[in-house]
Formats: sequence, C-alpha cells, structure tokens
Amino acid sequence: MKPREIRPGVYWVGAIDWDRRLFDALIPLPDGTSYNSYLIKGSEKTALIDTVDPTMQEVLKNNLSQLGIDKIDYVIANHAEQDHSGAIPQVLEKYPEAKVVCTPKCKGMLIDLLMIPEAKFITVNDKETISLGNRTLEFIHAPWVHWPETMLTYLREDRILFPCDFFGSHLATTDLYVRDGGQAYEAAKRYYAEIMMPFRNTIQKNLEKIKDYAIDIIAPSHGPLHDKPEFILKAYHSWVFDEPKNIVVLPYISMHGSTRKMVEYLVGALVQRGVAVKQFDLTVTDIGKLAMALVDAATVIIGTPTILVGPHPNVAYAAILANALKPKVRFVSIIGSYGWGGKAVEQLAGMIPNLKVEILEPVLSKGFPEEADFKALDNLATTVAEKHKEYNFA
Ligand code: FEO
Repeated sequence: MKPREIRPGVYWVGAIDWDRRLFDALIPLPDGTSYNSYLIKGSEKTALIDTVDPTMQEVLKNNLSQLGIDKIDYVIANHAEQDHSGAIPQVLEKYPEAKVVCTPKCKGMLIDLLMIPEAKFITVNDKETISLGNRTLEFIHAPWVHWPETMLTYLREDRILFPCDFFGSHLATTDLYVRDGGQAYEAAKRYYAEIMMPFRNTIQKNLEKIKDYAIDIIAPSHGPLHDKPEFILKAYHSWVFDEPKNIVVLPYISMHGSTRKMVEYLVGALVQRGVAVKQFDLTVTDIGKLAMALVDAATVIIGTPTILVGPHPNVAYAAILANALKPKVRFVSIIGSYGWGGKAVEQLAGMIPNLKVEILEPVLSKGFPEEADFKALDNLATTVAEKHKEYNFA
C-alpha cells in the first residue's frame, strides 16, 4: 500500500499486515491488522507519528521515500510497545537528525526495550505542544491505554487525534476510513475486550479528558480511521460506562457429556426466564469472541468436569483470562460433574480474585445429571433471572 493523504501534508504511511494471525503470542487476529504511522509536514518541521512493527520497517521506509521525505525532525512515540516503536531505531538511522518525542515514562521504556540512546529524546509534559510552523502538535498524557506510558497526540489545526492503540482495531482493510460499520464495530469491540477492558476505570478518565477537544478524525494505530468520530466514542462510552446487560456467558468443557447435558439444560432454563446466553465450548472457542461476550455480560457461569481433582485445564485458562480482563460482570457460578470428588469449585473461585462478584450456589453432579441436579439448575436459572431483574440489567 502506498502513502495515503488524509489532509494536504498529512499522510498515512503505515503497513497492513493481512496475514498476521496471533498477537502477543496470545490474541487471535482473524482479520489481520495494520500498523498505522502518520507523517505530518509543517511549514518548518516534519513529524512522524508512531512507526510500525519491526517486521514491516521496509514498508514504512519505502512510504517515506515515495513522499520524498529527506528529513524528519520529530518521531512522536505515543506508546512504547514494539508494534509501534519497533521501527524507531531504523527510522533514526535513516533520518539521523530526528528526535524521539514521548512521555518521560516512555523514554525509559524505549531505552530499555530498544536501546535508543538517551540523547535522542525530547520528553513532553501533559498538554505540552510542539510547533511544526503552521501546525501544532499537542500531547495529551493518557496513562494505561494500555501501558503506563501512553499518550495521545492532537493535531490542532486539522483537528485530528492520534490516540495510538486507544480506539484501534485489529483489522486489515484497504478502507482508509471506516466504511463497513458492522465490521468495524465488531473489530473495535474485540480490540477493546482484549486490550483495553482491564483498564476500564482509567479509560473512563481518559474519555473525560478528551471530551472538550474538537475532533474531526480519530486516527488510531491499528485499523481504519474514524472520520465520524462519534461512532467509536459512543461505542467506548457504552462499553466502559454502561451497566452490564441481561446476558449470561457460559464457557464450558465436557469430557463425556455430563457437563454438556447440564449446560444445555441450564441454557434452556435461562432462556425460558428471559435471560440471553452466550455459550462457548472451550475446545473450539476463539478466545477473542469469549472476551467480546464478557464486555456486556452480567453473569458468567463456568461449566467444567473434574479432572485430576480440579477443573479442566482449558476451563482454568478461561477463568485466568477472565480474571485478567476484569469485565464488569457481577455474578459468577460454576456447574459441572465429577466422578468421585474433587476441588473444582474452590480452585476456580480462587482463580478470579479480580472479579468483584457475588458467587451464586454452584451445581455439581456426581456422574450424569439426574432429577435433583436439573432442579438445582432450575433454581440457579431463577436466581440469575431475579438478580438481573433486581439490578435492572436489560
Ligand atoms: Fe498496538 Fe499496545 O500496541
């Protein structure tokens, strides 16, 4: 992909990674991703905002060459993570006059991660500005979206916000701007769930912090740009501020069919009582889909057989993941089966200390579920429906 003009003198110069399928050796990328880098020409100075993943440094350098850029004054590093900072050393090699502009915390991280010499840095305080001549960059400190050093860059005269990961999405597309709203919403929600949700409280503060800025374009570091910023601002507002919805997320594993029978029965009982359910067989689930479901759910019910005294390892993994993602879930319960005993419930409960939840009475069946177990599942469904009603989760 060649450079693309956003405004006269403002260009997208990033790279699209159509084939990447895993991020951080953890997060599935069903739709690839992009590493968005932006070049801003002022009447006196030129700035590059973020770079690209080091695997795509040649694409960035080619884009800059195609624009005839022979001098860069500032490389703005909004974030130290390598998918944006990883090509900074190569850019500095090609443009030796350039200084790296970042928060004081980011400077330390870039020295640690990329061994960039200390003399290369200019650190900026919150709301500090740098003039490019006829254009002004304002730096807005926004810690914990999603590392402690993160900042946003606002191009005042063009009213463009460059928020790096914030408002991003892992989506490879030739659309410079969001054009398929459904696809963009899904990708942005997945991104929020996997990357941003654990920092919901600081995101609330950062949304407040930018609400008085006049923004025509949000240009994140992954995925298409937003030329209708209210689309993504409204979505984020809903994900971080709204109450959870009348939804149960039910991740489970079944080895010999007993837990699956209980899951099927419970799903029916919940639906009968007006509760929506999202059911995930963890042997085949894309964990990004599970993370997305956790954004809105009021209740999580984990289904597990007992294996080697505890929960199935795949279930333990899902519990640890949910604990790390810190969704706004309010209630948790556990259902499942065992052959001769065990500590699946105690062990699972111990894996979710971050979730400030009420634990609802678990239902464990010895062997294949029988009448008393189905009755207990009915009772659990009734309790969930009543709790959701009590808190007006709609
Ligand atoms: Fe896209 Fe936190 O890096």
